[in-house]
Amino acid sequence: MSHGERLPRERMYLMCPPEHFTVEYTINPWMDTTVPVDAGLALKQWALLRETLTDLGHRVHVLDAEPGLPDMVYAANGAFSVDGTVYGARFRYPQRADEAAAHRRFYQSWAFAEPVHVNEGEGDFAYLPEAYGGLILAGYGFRTEPAAHAEAQEVLGRPVISLRLVDPAFYHLDTALAALDDRRVAYYPGAFSPASQRVLAQLFPDAVLADRADAEEFGLNLVSDGRHVILNTQAMAMGEKVRAAGYTPVHVELGELKRGGGSIKCVVAELRP
Ligand code: ARG
Repeated sequence: MSHGERLPRERMYLMCPPEHFTVEYTINPWMDTTVPVDAGLALKQWALLRETLTDLGHRVHVLDAEPGLPDMVYAANGAFSVDGTVYGARFRYPQRADEAAAHRRFYQSWAFAEPVHVNEGEGDFAYLPEAYGGLILAGYGFRTEPAAHAEAQEVLGRPVISLRLVDPAFYHLDTALAALDDRRVAYYPGAFSPASQRVLAQLFPDAVLADRADAEEFGLNLVSDGRHVILNTQAMAMGEKVRAAGYTPVHVELGELKRGGGSIKCVVAELRP
């Protein structure tokens, strides 16, 4: 199969260093409080990911880490922005609640909508600017409330497609689905209800499909600029799948952050001014 050249688009991201990263509570099946985290290694891996993104020509803003918020490194959960408007997060679990305010302070110069309903930002929202004139995909079932999907649609003025997640291992949308570029997605069907699988198949007949092993390696928890697809080093098979679809996989080691139940996408929020 031949593909037109995949064109990268310059991106703006927000990341938060794992300065206070630990696994001291369990709010997803990946977190094991009995295995100590190597904080130095986490920081090193995070720095290399940041460097990879800047080397690819992208701008990375950094949010200061706050003590007592060990999951703050997963910056994708702090908000969701589309065309300059920010829909704030409201975390499901009290342990992460205070992260929302730290993100809100970052968006001072943006149009910011304070949410009423529980939602975990880009963890459960994805945006495809060129699909159907601009489409938001939203996950529910574990963290984000379906009511937040309607709220996001009112705030952002784009159609929101609700997708039900059914497997606790893939508790956020970004563990099961990713935007490869402005119109194309990759996803693991088994993470979604049968009806949501149908919806995805109807909307995205050209999607790159992942299997359970890819999803367990956090191969869908990727960041793409439309050409370069950043994946963790475990997700080699997923890397080959995106290569076959015409993209360039770039693998970065992020194993220490998997201990908290996240990988590449979880630690990178995209800013869409
Ligand atoms: N320990 C964090 C939690 O369970 C991990 C968040 C991962 N972030 C993501 N965007 N999937 O909330």
